[in-house]
Parts: sequence; structure tokens; C-alpha cells
Amino acid sequence: MRKILIIDDDIFFLKALKRMLTTLGDYSADISADGSIAFRSQEIREYDLVMLDLNMPKPDGRECLMAVKASAPSVPVIIVTGENSTETAVEYLRMGAYDYLTKPIDRNRLNATLENLFRLKSLEEELDSITRHLLKNELEKPYCFEKILTLDETMKKNFRYTEAIAPTSKPVLICGETGTGKELMAESLHLCSGREGKYVSVDVSGIDDSVFSDTLFGHTKGAFTGADKARSGLIETASGGTIFLDEIGDLQEASQIKLLRLLQTGEYYPLGSDAAKKSSARIVTAMNRTPEALLDKGFRNDLYYRLSTYRIDVPPLRERKKDIPLLARFFYSGAAKELKIPDRPDERALELLLAYRFPGNVRELKSIMEDAALQQKIGRTLFDTITERLNIKEVSGEKKARLKLTDVFGFLPTIKQVTDALVNEALEETKGSQKDAAAIVGLSRQAFNRRLNMQKKE
Ligand SMILES: Nc1ncnc2c1ncn2[C@@H]1O[C@H](COP(=O)(O)OP(=O)(O)OP(=O)(O)O)[C@@H](O)[C@H]1O
Ligand SMILES: [Mg+2]
Repeated sequence: MRKILIIDDDIFFLKALKRMLTTLGDYSADISADGSIAFRSQEIREYDLVMLDLNMPKPDGRECLMAVKASAPSVPVIIVTGENSTETAVEYLRMGAYDYLTKPIDRNRLNATLENLFRLKSLEEELDSITRHLLKNELEKPYCFEKILTLDETMKKNFRYTEAIAPTSKPVLICGETGTGKELMAESLHLCSGREGKYVSVDVSGIDDSVFSDTLFGHTKGAFTGADKARSGLIETASGGTIFLDEIGDLQEASQIKLLRLLQTGEYYPLGSDAAKKSSARIVTAMNRTPEALLDKGFRNDLYYRLSTYRIDVPPLRERKKDIPLLARFFYSGAAKELKIPDRPDERALELLLAYRFPGNVRELKSIMEDAALQQKIGRTLFDTITERLNIKEVSGEKKARLKLTDVFGFLPTIKQVTDALVNEALEETKGSQKDAAAIVGLSRQAFNRRLNMQKKE
């Protein structure tokens, strides 16, 4: 509900405009025949809009506009006047009025002005709320994210962003490699939104268009052979809630068109029906490709832009190293409890994990730790299980890759080639921080820099 204040000395006009406003939309209007209210800034700030007459006994419209713009600049003012002059209109717009309407008020013109104004205002408010959330360090609803363990700053920023966008009903796209926790993010988003409907998750990879339509939109009785009963689709199950479409990058072209139509109109057709149904489910999607790869592959641009109104990028596990021991202990501990073995993982073994790339991310770490706990129960050490799983061999207390350099280079490299590769990879790992890269490879900052310069000169 938007609150509007109308100031005009003509009491009949005030009442008529108030009536018109309440029939136009979700607006409530207060009226005042005396301009002095414009000088009470506390009161004015309570309103989403002031509609102001120009010709009034003192204070007149001009003085009122100046007062509002000085003390409550974020409250928009629309001038409503009998004076139809372009010059006056321009003058007032310059002074900060949002628009200038002439009496008698045209209903359609007023409607369009208010819709535009409040659409813009909603966007600004949304952006404001997102910025506020991102600047804050505290979450308002930490319990929504309690299933996602993390010590990583980017992940925490994602939580704050998720909290900020949760109350809107716009689509969200979650991107990240396989096993990074996208589904958990989608669940947290739903929880955080406070939406009363259900959270429904559907994996759309590998399903053809008719299965997609039937699953999401449902069908009428007799829609196809074997459809002996009408069945509602998952969009309906998720009414007032969230529908999570996983692996959206695999969606077939025909299904992409249907999804686009749903996003554009908020409507869909069950199979066999020509009566459109309204959807009130929020659409959240996920994929493990990058947007560039998705569009390269021929995914519809227009659909991508709709789906990614908001986008959350979940970083791969190797880019949040602090989470590796944290999650390793957590998964090990869960398994140890179940297997009734002591919950004291060998910390030296956990360190080995830091050097691994984790192509399968958290899911892979979970499986490694659960397997390691099981192996421990049958007498193998955690250290041995992990080195074997990660293809790492320990020689006399030193960690050494079992992989040979010839496997990596395809030939036996020179010392220079190895050093260059090492320097480059360390820079990649640290996202270009020479200080951190030097520390990783065990060189002083100066020595690292010298090597880098030598490389550049060649
Ligand atoms: N930060 C985390 N804390 C605890 N468990 C996690 C975390 N991240 C992921 N997991 C667990 O790892 C597994 C994989 O997570 P999830 O299914 O959410 O990944 P995904 O990104 O959706 O994967 P895919 O791309 O394969 O669909 C799940 O068992 C999940 O509970
Ligand atoms: Mg998933």
C-alpha cells in the first residue's frame, strides 16, 4: 500500500481525487486543505507521494514544493493545477517536481504516472535494501543458512545478498560447479523469503519437452492417450512458494519457449487445455555452466536475461580453502558418529586435502570423508585413505605427488619450464597476488618478482 498526501484548498477536488486514487490501485490518500502541512517534515516523510495544488492561499504551491524538497527530498511531488502552461510546468519540474498534471485530472494519465513512479520507487527501494544488506556484516535470519557451513567471505556475502533478494518474487539464477551447494542455496533462499507455499525441486536435465510440460504444467483428462485423470503440475504444487529448476542449461528449445512465456505473462497452459492458469510460484534455477558457456551453446538470450534478474555465484571449493578442513571435519564427524568410531581425524591427513582441486567440490569431499571413516573402522588410517583417493604418495614424511612431471608436461621439462609453470599456477591460485603466490612457492617477494620479470622479458 502506497500512502499519498493531497494538498489543495478546494475540498471538493480533494475528495474527488482521493476517491479516484483508491479505485486506481493499492493506494491510501490523506487530504489537507492547508499547505502548512508541507513544512512538517516528519509528517511528510511518512508519505510515498505528495500531490500539490499551485494556487492556494499562503503558503502556496511553490512554497510547499520548496519546503518538501528541502526537508524531505526523497518524497516525490506531483503538481496538480488548473494552470495549463508549458512554461510553468518546466519551471516546476526544474524545481524538483516529479510530474505536472492539469485539472481536470485524466484518469489514465494519472494511472500511468503513478505506475511509473512507484515502479521506479520499488526498484530504488530494492536496490537500497540490497546495498544495505551487502554493507552489513550481520544476517537478519542466520538460521536460514545454517545448513551451509562456511568460513568464506564470498559465501557470507552471498548469504547477505540472498537475504536481500529473498522477499522479492523475481527469478534467481544460481551458478556454480557441480557439488558446490547450489541446491542448499536455493533452499535457504526459499526459507528466507518467508513464502508460505512449498519449495519444489525439479531436475530438468535430460527430460524432453512433453515430460517437461506435463511435470510443470500438468494436464487435463484425455489430454493424451493414458491421461485418464486430470493432474496438476508442480507449478501449482509450488503456488505461493518456490519452484527450483535444476540444470536449466540442459533445457530443450521448446521448453525454453514455454518457460519464457511463463516468466513474461505469469501464465501457463496445462496440456490439453486452452484456459491459462496463473502462477504464483517464484522461479529459481541453477546450472553448473558459466553464463558464457550457456549462451555459446545456443541457450535463448531472452530467457537467460529473464532468469538471471538476480544471480548468485557459488565459488568452487578450491577457491575457499578455509572451508576444506571445516567441512572435512564436519563430514567425518557425522560418519564417525554413525559408525561408532572415535571422532578424532588425523589433522595431518586433513592438510593433504588443501592441495587438491576438488572437481566434484563439497559433494566429493563429503564422499571422501565418509569413505575414509569407513576405512578407518576396518583398520586403514585416514592418511592412507586420503593419499590414495587423491593420488598422493607420502615418502619419508614428505608429501609428494605420485603424478610424474612427464604426465603433466607430456615430456621431461627443464628446471626453467617447471619454475615458470609453478610461478604461473601460484599466481592463478592467488588470483594474481604476488605476495601470496611467493609465500606458496616458498620464495621471498623479491625473488618471486625477479622470476616473473625474467619470464616477461623472454
Ligand atoms: N557448505 C556446505 N555445508 C554443508 N554441506 C554442504 C555444503 N555445500 C554442499 N554441501 C553438501 O554437499 C552436497 C552437494 O550439495 P548440493 O546438492 O547443494 O550441490 P549442487 O551445487 O546442487 O550440485 P549439482 O550441480 O551436482 O546439482 C549435498 O549433500 C550438500 O548437503
Ligand atoms: Mg543440484
